[in-house]
Amino acid sequence: MATQRASTLADPSLPPDVLAEMERLNEEAAPLHIWLRTRANAPQKTPWHRGDDETPSPAPEEASTVRTPPPVFRPAPHLWKWAEIEPYLHRIAEIAPLEFTERQQFLLLNPGLGGALRVTNTIRVAVSIYKPGDKAVNHMHTPNASRTILSNGGGYTTVDGEICDANRGDLILTPNGTWHGHGNDSSDPVIWMDVLDWPLMEQLDCIWIEEEDATKASNAPAPSLDYSKRHYGSGGMVPAFTPDNRGIGEGTSPLMHYQGAEVRKTLEGLANEEGDPYEGIQINFTNPVDGSSVFTTLGYNAQLLRPGQTTLPCRQTACTLYCCIEGKGYTEIAGTKYQWKKNDIFVVPNHLWRHHVNLSASENAILYGVTDSPLLQKIGHFRSQGKTSAGAVVELPN
Ligand SMILES: [Fe+2]
Repeated sequence: MATQRASTLADPSLPPDVLAEMERLNEEAAPLHIWLRTRANAPQKTPWHRGDDETPSPAPEEASTVRTPPPVFRPAPHLWKWAEIEPYLHRIAEIAPLEFTERQQFLLLNPGLGGALRVTNTIRVAVSIYKPGDKAVNHMHTPNASRTILSNGGGYTTVDGEICDANRGDLILTPNGTWHGHGNDSSDPVIWMDVLDWPLMEQLDCIWIEEEDATKASNAPAPSLDYSKRHYGSGGMVPAFTPDNRGIGEGTSPLMHYQGAEVRKTLEGLANEEGDPYEGIQINFTNPVDGSSVFTTLGYNAQLLRPGQTTLPCRQTACTLYCCIEGKGYTEIAGTKYQWKKNDIFVVPNHLWRHHVNLSASENAILYGVTDSPLLQKIGHFRSQGKTSAGAVVELPN
């Protein structure tokens, strides 16, 4: 371990005998969990907001020895093609039925993050399948989680007893500390994308999970059909007599179910507006109480790109996860085109220029996005830049 560190952290300006002695000292001190060095922290990269560096960060093993420490926590741009990954859902469902297991799913691993179960340093993504008759035990955990429904219908998630039927394009939230369960009473499999702020909570050592004890009385409240929709599902109107918060955390949305049909209707109703040059026709899923992001850590949105539309380049200190709900096109990230179509999932890391293109001349494209910008805004580190159509770099409002 010491030798490995020495090879990446060693000061090449030191005479060889001093370098060797430093290495020997570090070997000796290793049991004390300290590291001796003669160099200051070097920048891990060129300041992202200066110049026009479109080169993605090197993989850790390719990192220059002047970097201190190796940039092992830097996500890479990546796209998971649905046609390639979906078959594995059906295979796992065949070989490991839910009646004998807890989940039938796979997790997405960002190739830049050294095998960690995460797509960015704040976001974990799983894709799950529930076959007819499947039912997962009720549980709760501190990470916020969501489901983006990719199959057409069937299946459900219960949130504090509220039943949310899962239909394509729906976003179902299970905020921090809400009791939730999943199942499928229909005759077709249901497939969805789970998104969690798990890696962030992991870094903070703030994860715990409880499972309902099926042999005892339910911890969850009695089911209530459309509870959150009845209370918070009418735009601009919120009741004054119900708790604004669900679960054990604070600041999460009390509306649990954002329905795909309404998302599409809203986007299409705005399609002839000018929209945003960097995002097209974008809507945010918000906490209906105060208009903030649905989770304190992650923000969710949907965007429509008109036929042939090309957005202007943008880069941020935040990372964004995308799922193509409809259409076909590509997102150019740091000079490389990532072609997407229905259900493809991709990640745009922080600091890299990106723009979207709808390749269809006649059909809209719809992308759903999840960004960690709410977290960065709260800690004072969100920053965004765009390029004008003339190519000038401009600071964008937070
Ligand atoms: Fe869960």
